[in-house]
Amino acid sequence: MIKEKIKLTNGLVIPAIGFGTYNPDCREEEEQVAIIRQAIECGYRYFDTASRYGTERALGRAIRESGIDRSEFIVATKVWIDEMGQEETRNAFFRSMERADIGYFDYYLIHWPRRAENDTDWKARDLETYRAMEQLVRQGYISGIGLSNFLPHHLDSILCECEIRPVMDQLEMHPGYLQTTVNSYCRKNDILVQAWSPLGRGRVLAHPYIMRRAEKYQKTPAQVCLRFLIQKGIMPIVKASSRERMLQNLEVFDFTLNDEEMSIIGCMPQTGWSGEHPDFAIPKAKSHSGELSQ
Ligand SMILES: NC(=O)c1ccc[n+]([C@@H]2O[C@H](COP(=O)([O-])OP(=O)(O)OC[C@H]3O[C@@H](n4cnc5c(N)ncnc54)[C@H](OP(=O)(O)O)[C@@H]3O)[C@@H](O)[C@H]2O)c1
Repeated sequence: MIKEKIKLTNGLVIPAIGFGTYNPDCREEEEQVAIIRQAIECGYRYFDTASRYGTERALGRAIRESGIDRSEFIVATKVWIDEMGQEETRNAFFRSMERADIGYFDYYLIHWPRRAENDTDWKARDLETYRAMEQLVRQGYISGIGLSNFLPHHLDSILCECEIRPVMDQLEMHPGYLQTTVNSYCRKNDILVQAWSPLGRGRVLAHPYIMRRAEKYQKTPAQVCLRFLIQKGIMPIVKASSRERMLQNLEVFDFTLNDEEMSIIGCMPQTGWSGEHPDFAIPKAKSHSGELSQ
């Protein structure tokens, strides 16, 4: 079981590494349940899902069938862009609750702040969605609100208006794509940064410098990437399908990258970016209903 923890701005303490359940291979529910069950057995207790991933149901089943008390898990889900708005968000939340069937979610995140550059209504829609989430906190359905893919200009309008502050911002972040501007903005505002695609979905693992660090510390390139993020105070949300990789991704607390290595990795030229950007390029993938969202 992972012992290393992070303290959030709302005082809650959560595991330092989370398990991601994005399902790019469109695996069937049984297979998803088996993967998540294995992650639970390996010791993961923080799980990240989204209405868009089609994995809320499988995650809920794996948690219920684990025999481990619900209170031992931290589960976050997200509202997708076509579910946003005051009433729509509330309805979307209860659909997610029904699919997962685990009593409550710990965190509810706005998945994506803006549809495209020519989306002029995004500020109002983000705020309405956020207000619906604040109501869910007040009513005891969630313990905290999170954001995802929010850059400083998206965060500004929420922070000016909100009554309950956001706990985290989940962003694409890995060696080669560190988004330093939003990272320091979050740090200044006591918002935890979570890294999605902390391994750049494998795209940065063959970088020669990362490979040489792995050799030096007798670790894998994936472990070097995760260790780098943890030393930067960023919480990786990592996905793996085999038991071996799940365990490997947790074994990152027995070595330390030195200051020079941290600086060199931190200054690497951009590499491994997904091509998705909150103001310009929204990801194309299947939603839980199996339809293409865009
Ligand atoms: N908020 C957002 O907009 C957003 C966007 C994308 C993702 N996410 C979240 O972040 C999670 C993680 O991101 P991600 O799935 O895109 O990318 P990732 O965790 O960076 O990479 C996953 C890929 O790396 C492989 N892998 C895992 N461990 C490995 C290891 N030790 N050595 C070599 N390869 C390894 C996996 O292969 P196998 O699966 O074959 O083992 C998979 O192909 C998602 O599952 C999701 O929960 C959020």
